[in-house]
Parts: sequence; C-alpha cells; structure tokens
Amino acid sequence: MMNMRYLILLAPLALSAQLVEGPGMTETDKNCKACHEIERSISLRQDINGWNNTIAKMVGFGMKSKESDLAIVAEYLAKHYPADAMPPINVNTASAIELESRFSLKRSQSSAFLAHREKVGKLKTFADLKKSPGMDPERIEAKKAQIVF
Ligand code: HEC
Repeated sequence: MMNMRYLILLAPLALSAQLVEGPGMTETDKNCKACHEIERSISLRQDINGWNNTIAKMVGFGMKSKESDLAIVAEYLAKHYPADAMPPINVNTASAIELESRFSLKRSQSSAFLAHREKVGKLKTFADLKKSPGMDPERIEAKKAQIVF
C-alpha cells in the first residue's frame, strides 16, 4: 500500500520531466504531446517566428488548442529553445540521431544518407548535400546557417 502512494505522487512529475520549468510549461506539455513525443516538439531551436510557424503547422495537422494557449506556448518555446542555442551540425561527422533530429528525418532517410556518405566520402557543398539520398533540399535550405562541412 505504501508503495502505491509514492507511485501516484511521482506520476505527474515524471510526465513533464522533459520540459524546462517556467511559465507556459503546462500549456506546452498539454498541447504538444498529443500526436508525438514531447522530445520531438522541442527538437528545434528557433526564434518566435519559427516557433509560430511550427505551431501553425501543428494546427494544420489537427492540433486542438485553446486560442489563448498558442501565444503562451510560442513564447515559452522561443524563450527556452531559442535559435541561437543550436550549435552547427557537421554533416560529414554527424550521427544518425543528430541528423534525424536536426533535419526531421525518418530512420530510413538517415540510413540512406549515411550509406551515401560512406560511399562518396566527404561532402563539400550545399549542392552535394541537397542531392544526397534521404535529404530534403527545402529543409537544407532552411537550416543553411547551421550547417558546416
Ligand atoms: C494533431 C497532432 C499534433 C500535435 C498536437 C502536435 N504535433 Fe508536432 N507534428 C505532428 C506531425 C504529424 C508531425 C510530423 C510532420 C512530418 O513528419 O513532416 C509533427 C512534427 C513535429 C516536429 C518536427 C519538425 C517538423 O516541423 O515537422 C516538431 C518540432 C513539432 N511537431 C512540434 C510540435 C509542437 C511544438 C507542438 C505543440 C505546440 C506539436 N508539435 C503538437 C502533429 C502534431
């Protein structure tokens, strides 16, 4: 009986453990884990415009949120997951996980890219990168400032 009580007390803490504490955390937790893991929701680093675009995209996917929550969530995300916190990614040395989270790739896409990198050696230009298997040219363009070779 004793153990059960502790489990119940700890459960709500464990659910939000991924997010940084702060105003807006509750709203973000509530709105951003209905369709995918909360880790995915915070896998980007961007400014308020970027986060507003992401939120608009999620609304397009069918996110049901209170109108008043949207601005709170955008502010929370821009404060705790800002654009300048993202270190550059070296596409010649990055691991599968790093590639997947930075470019929103599926496992099959990162595998295709890694196999290609293995075969052709060091990539040198954005043009090379954009036509590599598994890579989406639009996403590369959007992340250009964060990419190094
Ligand atoms: C109604 C379902 C739904 C909800 C709720 C939702 N998402 Fe998503 N999200 C998706 C889908 C579907 C994808 C996959 C898109 C893809 O693979 O292109 C996704 C992918 C993402 C990605 C990966 C990058 C990208 O742009 O595709 C991020 C970041 C993200 N969501 C953030 C959020 C945030 C932040 C919230 C809360 C404000 C949220 N999501 C709530 C459906 C949702």
